[in-house]
Amino acid sequence: MRKRGSSIDEESLRRIRDSCRLISTSASTVVFTGAGVSSESGIPVFRGSGGLWERYNPALFGNLLGLAIVFAFSPGKISYFAMEAISTFLSAKPNPAHEAIARLEQAGIVKGVITQNVDNLHRKAGSSNVFEVHGNIFRARCLKCGVRSDIPKEQILEKISSGEKGSSKRRDLLRMMDRFSGRCSCGGRRRPDIVLFGEMLPRETLTGALELASRCDCIIAAGTSALVYPAASIPEYAVQNGAALIEINPNRTRLTPLSQIWISLRASTALELISKEFLSKDELDAWRI
Ligand code: OAD
Repeated sequence: MRKRGSSIDEESLRRIRDSCRLISTSASTVVFTGAGVSSESGIPVFRGSGGLWERYNPALFGNLLGLAIVFAFSPGKISYFAMEAISTFLSAKPNPAHEAIARLEQAGIVKGVITQNVDNLHRKAGSSNVFEVHGNIFRARCLKCGVRSDIPKEQILEKISSGEKGSSKRRDLLRMMDRFSGRCSCGGRRRPDIVLFGEMLPRETLTGALELASRCDCIIAAGTSALVYPAASIPEYAVQNGAALIEINPNRTRLTPLSQIWISLRASTALELISKEFLSKDELDAWRI
């Protein structure tokens, strides 16, 4: 691992080396991610300074009842919130953290990714065994038959680039939301396939994630405050089942005391260094690293 010319402190480098040793002796390593991993793609985190919940009250904007209340009294705010969210997700691209996780999976080091993020960036980066426990904003779910289907980016762009954009009229907003998710072939209304506060997590995805977590012997938790349950219990569950926890987060969280190694760096920096330890020169060349 290179040190000269690096701005990374010696202690962090030592922790990265220890992490690589731990991962290399593990039969199954799993990655658990949160908003911090996508923050370097321009998507704001939820909590703390600059977080989404600092500008939008989660009691109103984070659940269906709250959204219905805002919709009834100030539809313009919903319109603004939706447009801001949609344009942020549409313009986001995977960053080196997503890419490093995908490379590690393709090299057989990482067995899967469990993410709380709805931005689709792990799949976009090339990860294939992905468990999106809070859903995916680029997927819709039929409220009548429950069938899920992808919403292509181009379709979203086309459907929201109409006159209703930014409108504060309730009728226009409903039309825009209908256009965003589209109608199911069964005739049912569809909604974005994401989990709001107070809603159940998708059962099959959660079961798959828990199975993966229970079988791993090393779990890397990156960029999450681990405050939102039940998702936050996944790394704890892995630890209870004997896995070693590596946490990557510039700040301490409630997972820090449970972790064997805490790397106080940005996810992109830490994961890129870790992936470089495991990949051959040819593999790195193939990824243009
Ligand atoms: P939070 O916003 O709660 O936490 C983000 C974490 O990322 C914080 O601990 C930051 O210190 C850390 N962080 C910031 N930048 C980072 C970087 N570059 N590298 C590594 N870490 C970084 O986000 P989540 O834990 O993902 O749920 O939040 C969990 C859930 O709360 C979300 O999925 C969402 C939200 O309400 C629902 O919408 C249901």
